[in-house]
Amino acid sequence: MAEGRFTNPVVASLAGIKDFFTRQQLASRLTEADRADGKTVMITGANSGLGFALAVNFARRGAKVIMACRSQIPEAGEKVKKLSGSQDVEMRYVDLSKIGTIHEFVQSFVRDGITIDICILNAAVALPGPRKTESGQDEFFQVNYLANVTLTLLLIKHSILELKMESPLSRLIFISSDSHQGATYIDYDEFGRYFEYGVSKAISNYSYFKLVLNTYATELSRRVNSGQVRLSIHAICPGPVHSNIVKEAPWLLRMILNGIFWIVFRSPAKAALPVVYMALSPDYEGSTNEYLHMFNPKKMDPKVYEPAEGLKLWDRSTRLLKDIDPSHMDYLEQEF
Ligand SMILES: NC(=O)c1ccc[n+]([C@@H]2O[C@H](COP(=O)([O-])OP(=O)(O)OC[C@H]3O[C@@H](n4cnc5c(N)ncnc54)[C@H](OP(=O)(O)O)[C@@H]3O)[C@@H](O)[C@H]2O)c1
Repeated sequence: MAEGRFTNPVVASLAGIKDFFTRQQLASRLTEADRADGKTVMITGANSGLGFALAVNFARRGAKVIMACRSQIPEAGEKVKKLSGSQDVEMRYVDLSKIGTIHEFVQSFVRDGITIDICILNAAVALPGPRKTESGQDEFFQVNYLANVTLTLLLIKHSILELKMESPLSRLIFISSDSHQGATYIDYDEFGRYFEYGVSKAISNYSYFKLVLNTYATELSRRVNSGQVRLSIHAICPGPVHSNIVKEAPWLLRMILNGIFWIVFRSPAKAALPVVYMALSPDYEGSTNEYLHMFNPKKMDPKVYEPAEGLKLWDRSTRLLKDIDPSHMDYLEQEF
């Protein structure tokens, strides 16, 4: 059975306390000189928490910001404009639990001739149990993992996220969690299958799907960048963030977790800083498949780097998508 590092949310949150006191090795490397003028930044789940703080930060640094969201349109965008002082902010609708809306979202970029320089895949859920999506998957699996496969492959297919031969390369950043370390190998009996499970499995899903996501990011980087680096693909854990991530937890648990969040978790604005660093700094120009845990470079779980794991995950993910999204095969069969 697939298992993440934590099955108890209080233990998981308390692990965040250690991060709170961890020295941030590269924190001074992000400065006001790291500007985003002329760059287009797309952030999923940008109406709340970390994603919202990222939108404000990038807009302040001069980027055109596209907030990819399923709710709070247009209010969240208006707030970002107000807080950043930039008018170059827009919101586009996407519900990552519905594959059709991902296609419509990408088509809107094609229609409007927009390309993206920095793509931050931030949206995620922490659900208390299984919930079936329209296409028959578990929402946890669909939003935290599979939607990111569909979205990245479509963005690359339509050259919205371009593979470049010259600097500056575009950057694709997966928001992960260091809790992925120690999750089990990917379980293909469970993969993409909807089934009933209890709350401890739901909690464990969170860190487990981050391992799956990091394995995909690594395999995508391997495929896209086999000859030379053409797209910088990285993963980062922002550390503990005081956000809305546990909004669906039972109320008592939510009260306890929010108490811990309030005392020892970082504000989204602070947690956003290492992500902005990885997205803008010349330190990451021309590199790929790096991982940061806050401002600290680190290795991901060793399983993430196993080529056989990446290959199998790629194969199973594209096969599954061909089954549940049969009218759109071309993006799944592209060669890089
Ligand atoms: N909080 C932490 O301590 C922590 C630690 C490590 C990593 N992270 C990671 O940081 C990222 C941001 O999380 P957060 O803590 O900022 O939580 P958050 O405030 O709950 O933000 C999650 C975002 O994802 C969006 N989202 C969820 N389901 C979606 C769907 N079906 N379609 C489109 N958007 C959807 C949410 O939109 P709605 O508002 O519409 O639900 C929200 O904007 C996540 O990847 C999380 O795993 C968080």
